[in-house]
Amino acid sequence: MNKRDNAVVVAMLKANAGIVEPALKKYLSEDDAHLKVLLDAERYSTFAGGKRIRPALVLEFCRLFGGDEKAALPYACAIELVHTYSLIHDDLPCMDNDALRRGKPTCHVAFGEAVALLAGDALLTRAFEIAAQNRPPDRAAEAVAELARAAGSFGMIGGQVLDLSGETSTLDFETLLRMYRLKTGALIGAAAELGCIAAGLDKNDARRRAAAAYAENIGLVFQIIDDLLDVTGSSELLGKACRKDAARGKTTIMTYYTPEQAKQFAAGLTEAAVASISGYPGSETLCALAYYLLERES
Ligand code: IPE
Ligand code: IPE
Ligand code: MG
Ligand code: MG
Ligand code: MG
Repeated sequence: MNKRDNAVVVAMLKANAGIVEPALKKYLSEDDAHLKVLLDAERYSTFAGGKRIRPALVLEFCRLFGGDEKAALPYACAIELVHTYSLIHDDLPCMDNDALRRGKPTCHVAFGEAVALLAGDALLTRAFEIAAQNRPPDRAAEAVAELARAAGSFGMIGGQVLDLSGETSTLDFETLLRMYRLKTGALIGAAAELGCIAAGLDKNDARRRAAAAYAENIGLVFQIIDDLLDVTGSSELLGKACRKDAARGKTTIMTYYTPEQAKQFAAGLTEAAVASISGYPGSETLCALAYYLLERES
C-alpha cells in the first residue's frame, strides 16, 4: 500500500461512519413531545454531516491492538457527541459567533441561543451516560475519566479559554501550541486512548503510549491545518465560514508562519505521528490517515 493512499483512508472513514451513524441514531432516538425542540436540536447538529474523524480513531486503534469493535463503539459515539457539543458552543455569539457549521446554519441560528446552549449541555451529558454504561465496568470507568479530563479545564475547555484570550493579546508560540494541544489535541488524544482502553491495554502499555504520541502529533496538525484552511480554504468545501480568525484578531499559526511554513511545520509533525505507530503491523491505514489530514481541504 502506498503510504499516502487517500482512497484507503476515504474507504476506512466511510466504513467506520457506517458503523457509528446507526449507533448514534439509536442513542438519540428516544422521543418526548414536550422536549421536541431540544431533541431536534441535538439531532440536527449531530447528523449535520461531520467527518467522524474522532470515532474512526477510536475504532481503528481498538482494531489495531486486537480489540473487539463492539467494545469500542459506545466510546466512539460518546466522543463524537462531546465533539459535536464543543462545536455548538464554539459557534455561539459569545464565542466565535459563526452562522455556518457542517454546511448548515449553526445550532443557535436554527434553534435560538438558549436551546443551542442546552442542546450542547445535553449532548455532553449523554456522552458520559453512554460511555459509563459500557462493559466491563472497570474499563468503562477508566474511559469516562479519560474523556472527562480531555473535555474539561485541562483539556478542550482550557484550550477554548486560551483561544479566546488569544483574541485580546497575542499568545507566544509555546502558548499557541499549548492552546492547540488542549482545544483540539485533547479530544483526538482521548479518541486514541479510548480505542486502546476498549482493546484492554493498560495505561503503561507501550502500544498505548505509541497511540498517544501519534494522536498528540495529528492533533496539532489538525488544528494547524484548520487555521491554515481558514486563510486559504473554501467555505463550500469546509462547510463553515472562512477568513474569520483574522477578522476576530485570533492568534493562530498564521500569526507566526506563512502558509508554506505552516504546512512544512505540520508535515514534520505528521512524520513524527507516523513514526510512532508504523512499527505495528496493520497500522498502514492510520499512517495514511495522518497524511490525509495534512493534505485535507475539508
Ligand atoms: C472542527 O473539527 C473543529 C476543530 C477541532 C478544528 P472537524 O473538522 O473534525 O469537524 P467535523 O466534525 O468534521 O464537522
Ligand atoms: C476548534 O477551533 C474548536 C473546538 C475545540 C470546538 P475553531 O474555533 O477554529 O474551530 P472551527 O474553525 O470553528 O471549526
Ligand atoms: Mg473557536
Ligand atoms: Mg470556531
Ligand atoms: Mg477554525
